[in-house]
Amino acid sequence: MSRTGDINEAALRAEIVRTGALLYARGLAHGSAGNLSVRLDDGSILVTPTNSSLGSLTPERLSRVSVDGRHLDGDPPSKEAFFHLAVYEERPAARAVVHLHSTHAVAVSCLCHADSSNVLPPLTAYHVMRVGRLPLVPYFRPGDRALAEAVRGFARGHKAMLLANHGPIVAGATLQEAVQAYEELEETAKLFFLIGNRPAAPLTCEAVEDLQRHFPS
Ligand code: 13P
Repeated sequence: MSRTGDINEAALRAEIVRTGALLYARGLAHGSAGNLSVRLDDGSILVTPTNSSLGSLTPERLSRVSVDGRHLDGDPPSKEAFFHLAVYEERPAARAVVHLHSTHAVAVSCLCHADSSNVLPPLTAYHVMRVGRLPLVPYFRPGDRALAEAVRGFARGHKAMLLANHGPIVAGATLQEAVQAYEELEETAKLFFLIGNRPAAPLTCEAVEDLQRHFPS
């Protein structure tokens, strides 16, 4: 563990393990897909180890990575640690990042989108409040540093983004907040397919602006 904030760090390690198990049990994570991270007070991050199942994480085996991407301790880190770091760098208030390959959101990431600046309609108030605009990040190989740089380009203006043919990344002030936003995103993706070609009535621009005023992110 890092020398500073040991008690807090122990609690955060336990929270990552609990959260991974919860996401796995809910079917939002499968196989060894997905990664979670939290930022510690010294700027380093705790991130899930590469090729680990989120359903069976161990607190002491979580990886710790420095702000400049060095593996400090624990098992070898997620190959996506660099995009987690890019999100933290661009969003100073973010303390947690969730990336999963949940089915409906990934399906949206595989569609052709006329407008890649926002790839899910504002179907519900909670989608607007928790997720906001969801841009599509162009495809790069998982773990590619170019993916991390592409993510950086979107992160400042968006707490959630969708990696093409891959899955969402969601940031939050806490792990719980990031997970709740992630779940909202997956539910909106589900609704999107459930509605299909039926004429939908998403929220109006006025309603979206009203929500943004009342629930600023
Ligand atoms: P890691 O096992 O390296 O975390 O990669 C999983 C993943 O979700 C890639 O995007």
